[in-house]
Amino acid sequence: MSSKMHLLQMLVHTSQTHTLQAWADPIDQQLEGLQDYAYWQHLAKKLEQGCFDGVFFADSPATHGVYKESVVPSVEWGVAWPNHDPMPLVAVMSAATQNLGIGVTLSTNGTSPYLATRRISTLNYLSRGRVGWNIVSGFSQAEHMACGLGKQIEHDERYDMADEFMDICYQLWNSVPADAILKNKQSLKFADPDKVTRVDFKGKYFQCKAVGPTLPSEYGRPMLFQAGSSGRGMQFAMKHAELIFAIQSHVEGMKKTMIQLKAEAQKYGVPERKVIFGLQPIVRSTELEARQRAEELIERIPLEANLARMSGVFGLDLSKFDPDQPLSDSSSAQGSRGLMAAAMTNEKGESVTLREVTKKWALSVAIPPVIGTPEQVATEIERVWRETGCHGFNLSPTTNPDSVDDFVDHVIPILQKRGVFRTSYEASTFRENLLS
Ligand SMILES: Cc1cc2nc3c(=O)[nH]c(=O)nc-3n(C[C@H](O)[C@H](O)[C@H](O)COP(=O)(O)O)c2cc1C
Repeated sequence: MSSKMHLLQMLVHTSQTHTLQAWADPIDQQLEGLQDYAYWQHLAKKLEQGCFDGVFFADSPATHGVYKESVVPSVEWGVAWPNHDPMPLVAVMSAATQNLGIGVTLSTNGTSPYLATRRISTLNYLSRGRVGWNIVSGFSQAEHMACGLGKQIEHDERYDMADEFMDICYQLWNSVPADAILKNKQSLKFADPDKVTRVDFKGKYFQCKAVGPTLPSEYGRPMLFQAGSSGRGMQFAMKHAELIFAIQSHVEGMKKTMIQLKAEAQKYGVPERKVIFGLQPIVRSTELEARQRAEELIERIPLEANLARMSGVFGLDLSKFDPDQPLSDSSSAQGSRGLMAAAMTNEKGESVTLREVTKKWALSVAIPPVIGTPEQVATEIERVWRETGCHGFNLSPTTNPDSVDDFVDHVIPILQKRGVFRTSYEASTFRENLLS
């Protein structure tokens, strides 16, 4: 455990944050922000003012259609739709800042390893080492269908494909060593071709014949994250991730995840990975106001919208389940087994009903809320950090930009005063700051 906690802000490039129907709240500005660079640059600058390690853009590139086998509920309620691409925002936000890291989700489905490496490395080069890649193997059936795969690829096979995808990415990154770049204005030789390796990969799923598309960054390749928490997902994480994102709906679950991930590292003989959990602060000047705010946000969310999102993420049509029975078995689910399992039990490890699970999912995909005054929220965040031994937190906003503004203005100074959060950046790259 490092001496200071690390903080990322979780964002999505759609009409709202992870809080369903947040766009309908009178103080929310994200819907208008979809056509305003200034909205995203304000968030970036504010987070940098608060010394956040960075932003983390979650992304689900296509509209869920698992619930009642239809996209109608997703479109009607604006559930994870529209699906705007977060990649341009990496440029928009890094251009407005000097130290803030920008992590972005990019699926190994629907794009080639070559094009993925090119996009993410270009942004990392431009921002001088401030880009991170959350590698997902794409849990969403909608994504598979939208990208022309014809059917949902089966859970474990997606990870086999993603392993091969990454093999190509590493080869592309290693294709151009720093000393191959000559930039010699006298001889006019730009690079030494003898030092550039041609990638010639023919695997079961992907092929690539190319030289690395971008200049090698002196700050290294993009930082790699991963967030799958099924058995196969953790195996993938142990191979590729420098840091792991996880969601558990309670502290007991977080502690278990820490133990599990330590055991996985031992099993594969790799270094233990640092873990970042999700939390959702809801801050007001009194505890009562904060609780009322949480209620107001939850009450606005139609059950159908919530079930449409959960069905899409779990890969199970929840219209076929009794809301008052426990969600019994995740083995048939072809979506995110990790996220489903995380929400299915309470602190005592007992199964909870589907209705209970929907309550946890409404505001932020089962990320636990931290509700109260700035002092109370800071105290609770510190407690969770110390009790779990995690590296830090992905904070999920409700409405924005007020969630970010309030946290930076009122909670960050308390964490800094207590000596558990930085008062200035250690370095200029995402990796160096986040792994410090
Ligand atoms: C904090 C966190 C953020 C995630 N963000 C995304 C995301 O943006 N897009 C996505 O497709 N999956 C996302 N996932 C899902 C996982 O990366 C993973 O693909 C999914 O859980 C399926 O893997 P599993 O069955 O091994 O858990 C996220 C998971 C967690 C815990």
